[in-house]
Amino acid sequence: MFGFRHSLPVDFFQGACDVHCHLLPGVDDGFSTTEKSLHALHKLEEYGVQKMILTPHFLKDYPDNNRANITAKFETFKSEVAKVCKIELRLGAEYMLDACFMDHFKQGFLTLDKSGEHVLCETSYLMYEHGISEMLYDVMCEGFQPVIAHPERYEYAVKDNYLRWKDKRFKFQLNLLSLAGAYGKPAMIKSHYLLKEGMYDFVGSDMHNVENFRRFLPEIRLSKRDIERLEQLIENNKKLFA
Ligand SMILES: [Fe+2]
Repeated sequence: MFGFRHSLPVDFFQGACDVHCHLLPGVDDGFSTTEKSLHALHKLEEYGVQKMILTPHFLKDYPDNNRANITAKFETFKSEVAKVCKIELRLGAEYMLDACFMDHFKQGFLTLDKSGEHVLCETSYLMYEHGISEMLYDVMCEGFQPVIAHPERYEYAVKDNYLRWKDKRFKFQLNLLSLAGAYGKPAMIKSHYLLKEGMYDFVGSDMHNVENFRRFLPEIRLSKRDIERLEQLIENNKKLFA
C-alpha cells in the first residue's frame, strides 16, 4: 500500500537558500535578460527565499565563461539586484566534467561556499565518460569537495553508479523539480529513490526560467518522511551560504 502523499508545506522556502540556478543573465541557456532575472527573484522572494547561489554553466560550449568574465558580470548584476530586491546573492558555477574542466581548476574554482571547498559538477546526460572519477579525485586531492549536480538526470546511472560515487565521498545535489517529473519519468523515479535512501546532500532549483518552477512545484507529492528529508537538505544549503 502507498502511504498518503503530501504537497510541500506552504512555508517550505521560508529563509531558504538555493544552491543551483541559472539566474545570472545572458551567459548561458538560463535567463537571457536582467529584467527576466529580476522578475524571477521577485517571485522567489514571495516564496520566502532569502539567498541564492548563482551557478552559470562552465563548459566548452561557452568559451567566454571563465572566472574573470563571469565574476565581472556577477558584480554588475548583484548591484542591480541590490537596488530592488533583498535576496542575497553569491557566485558559484556549474562545471561540466569536459576537456576544459582542468583549465577551470587552474584558474581557481568558483565554489558554492565561502570557504572555497564545494565544487558543483555535472557530466554528460547520455553516456558515462571515462576519466570523470580521475578528474574528481585530482581536485579532491587539492582539498575540494565535488558536488554532483542532479545525479538523477544521468540516463546511464543506476544504483551501482550512485553507490560508487558515494563511496568516493562525492556529494549529491537534487533538482527539486525532478520529484515532480519535470525531467521525465526515469529521473523522477531515481530522484524519489535517492531521496528515500538519504543519498542527497543539497537541493537546488537549477532554474533556467520561472515558468517551469511555477508549473511543476505544485505537482510534488511526498511522504511525511521524505518531506523531512528535503527539509534537512534545505538546512544543509543554508550552511553552505553561511
Ligand atoms: Fe544547472
